[in-house]
Amino acid sequence: LTRLASNFDVEPNLHPVSDAERENMIDKPAFGQVFSDSMVTMRWRDGSGWSDRQVKPFGSLNISPAAAVLHYAQEIFEGLKAYKRQDGSIWLFRPDANAERFQDSAQRLSLPNLSVEDFIGSVAALVRQDAQWVPSRREYTLYLRPFMYASEAFLGVRSPKQVDYCVIASPSGPYFTGGVKPVSIWVEDRWFRTGPGGTGYAKCGGNYAASLVAGNRGTDHDCEQVCFVDAASKTYLEELGGMNMFVVHRDGHIETPCLTGTILPGVTRRSLIELLNDRGLKVCEMMIRMDDLVNDIRSGDVTEIFACGTAAIVTPIKRLKSSNFDVTVATGEAGTLTMQLREQLLGIQLGEVDDSHNWMWRV
Ligand code: COI
Repeated sequence: LTRLASNFDVEPNLHPVSDAERENMIDKPAFGQVFSDSMVTMRWRDGSGWSDRQVKPFGSLNISPAAAVLHYAQEIFEGLKAYKRQDGSIWLFRPDANAERFQDSAQRLSLPNLSVEDFIGSVAALVRQDAQWVPSRREYTLYLRPFMYASEAFLGVRSPKQVDYCVIASPSGPYFTGGVKPVSIWVEDRWFRTGPGGTGYAKCGGNYAASLVAGNRGTDHDCEQVCFVDAASKTYLEELGGMNMFVVHRDGHIETPCLTGTILPGVTRRSLIELLNDRGLKVCEMMIRMDDLVNDIRSGDVTEIFACGTAAIVTPIKRLKSSNFDVTVATGEAGTLTMQLREQLLGIQLGEVDDSHNWMWRV
């Protein structure tokens, strides 16, 4: 990572946050509310490719009101975390997987390709510069948010000739306040996140924008997250507003929606499938009918449901609610396998559990 990070020039920060203020900010931050001293920027121009690799003080972006992103939403992003271990070392979890997904997202949104080297180098350069911003409290991390957008000032609808890339870092605590408390999910029947041939598999801002009205309906029904079904048949379970879902059955088998192109291929999702396979547990990636799921919860055949994602880690789900049903998963408590997986994954990230898949990268 030293070599990759060294491609980025560091501009001195003349006004960093004071030590005392920073310590206060990273002590018990909420999710995504405060930001570190620095950011990375890089620019792409048609014909000359990527240049101007810089780490500089965190601050406002200079963007034309005519920039294509502000009109046509040409934007993609990633989310990953830097973890501080007890010995003070700082690690990333599978940044190569995020880099590859970023490339897939870029292709779908007609944005330029960013090499895996530049993606990982930019993230490493920022984490090195702001190493003191990585919280050390368990479950608190430096959440990294790389993103790319069409910055060309042009109102015609076409692929852009100028694009900006940026990485910011946010010392963050758990995504859901209240620790690992099981959450309630609103199953949305009116609004859909995406459809066949759409942008569902890409991590683009528009997917999240499209999820908000449904999320608000969920909030009105006392639910922390919304769950989408497929837009084409309104039958199959897809994903939550920003997380994937797993269902554990009484006979021990586990189901998760298969990647049909309309759901996000989560890095945590993929990692949990591998960890479950290591345990000899069968994970069926399949189309899950919402009706069947509700019946199986009612009959007690489903013993656990959990959500997963970089921000959410592994979060137990206690209840599914919609205009037509309201069911509680088993006793409504966090499931045993859910909590074991959560501890195993966190353990790998914090260096307490053997990283047999070599997922961790030292910064
Ligand atoms: C993540 O889990 O990193 C996400 O991007 C989900 C959400 C915060 C948008």
